[in-house]
Amino acid sequence: MNGTVELIIDGKPLELPTIVGTEGEVGIDIATLRNKTGCITLDPGYGNTGACKSAITFIDGEKGVLQYRGYDIAELAQKSTFIETAYLLIYGELPTTTELTEFSALLSENQMLHADMRFHFDAFPPSAHPMSILSAMIHASSSYPSPKTHGKPLSESFPYHAARLISQVRTIATSSYRKAHGLPMSYPKSNLKYTENFLHMMFSLPGEEYEINPEIVKALDLIFLLHADHEQNCSTSTVRMVASSQANVFASASAGVCALWGPLHGGANQAVLEMLEEIHREGDDGTKFLQEVKNKTGNRRLMGFGHRVYKNFDPRAVIIKEQCDKVLAQLHKSDPLLDIAKKLEEIALNDEYFVSRRLYPNVDFYSGIIMRAIGIPMDMFTVMFAIGRMPGWVANYKEVMDDRESRISRPRQIYTGATLRSYKPMAERA
Ligand code: ACO
Repeated sequence: MNGTVELIIDGKPLELPTIVGTEGEVGIDIATLRNKTGCITLDPGYGNTGACKSAITFIDGEKGVLQYRGYDIAELAQKSTFIETAYLLIYGELPTTTELTEFSALLSENQMLHADMRFHFDAFPPSAHPMSILSAMIHASSSYPSPKTHGKPLSESFPYHAARLISQVRTIATSSYRKAHGLPMSYPKSNLKYTENFLHMMFSLPGEEYEINPEIVKALDLIFLLHADHEQNCSTSTVRMVASSQANVFASASAGVCALWGPLHGGANQAVLEMLEEIHREGDDGTKFLQEVKNKTGNRRLMGFGHRVYKNFDPRAVIIKEQCDKVLAQLHKSDPLLDIAKKLEEIALNDEYFVSRRLYPNVDFYSGIIMRAIGIPMDMFTVMFAIGRMPGWVANYKEVMDDRESRISRPRQIYTGATLRSYKPMAERA
């Protein structure tokens, strides 16, 4: 690539510079296109559009590569923890012992919700979906600024906001679960680490402490770590879009939760389990269901399969599949839904429909099965994804705020509606 490309519009050439990323990715810089030609580009779903430059996460979907700040996901999954990885994503480097201790202390300091937040919880009906509670409570959180950050510039207050979001998303999630199940709120314990505390806050009952199983802690910590960031996906782009208007980090993260909720994105882990349950209820082993998917009966999809970016395999799915087998073996769980999942996977990976469209299991295909084995209810699955993704959202928010060249995000459109016409009085409309 020689550094420029030529675009010819109506016979007139326009030279556009190319930009090459540190991993060799090439983009065409079209920033001058509209000013010079009056044209815009059209790319529904943004499959070919780079919306920003970012130094946080690198993905090569063809090769199944995922790196956080230059570290391979498989190496982080093996050697790091969710909290260390969160620090890496937000601040760009692996923490020293002191930095990690300080970060953990800040997380502990910020884990409790403001006492008045309970009134917000109380106002939700028992049937409220935990994702709706999560987005609303994160947003509400911005109305209760910590005295340590009040009136301070973002450069000084950011570490507190970041810690508060990462820590409180866990507290909000477990509180919403306990409210829905009529259980009293439970409080974090200072001797437990992040993921252990999550399990304790979810499942400890009055007079009956949840017994921490290291294999379960490891599996859940891994699920959080594998979800911690994923480049410019729907929710992260939403966070960046909101941040570009200079809205605060709570508003931006809350918008991320809303974008994540849909079944084509974070909601897929819940949708996978719903699909497996439906197949099981109908007494199918997956064969009939797959035929319906291929026939596009009712626009059915094999949930947990396919990815906009990964076209050979999802590296997170490979790691999590291994962990899934370990957890189920450790808990001595046989699960008919797992048998169906295995059958679906086996057929789909050898079926022309899926092979020709390059559809492979994604991370959500297995994460739901692990969470079910741990005892996490299905409507909490996407909340778990949000807990994991929070460091990525925070890191992307920071990147937008630190970028002196950042402009408000404002895409264009190709208008396809009616052309100019005159207002018709009511009597003439028929
Ligand atoms: N099952 C059956 N067919 C599928 C699936 C699927 N899961 N995914 C894509 N296809 C088919 C489409 O019907 C289409 O077929 P056609 O060429 O005959 O029309 C073709 O594959 C291309 O599909 P697109 O929708 O254009 O692919 P896109 O990249 O836009 O979608 C997505 C990616 C949304 C992930 C899609 O694969 C999907 O819906 N998967 C199921 C939901 C899911 O698991 N989402 C989680 C994604 S990972 C994450 O967010 C963490």
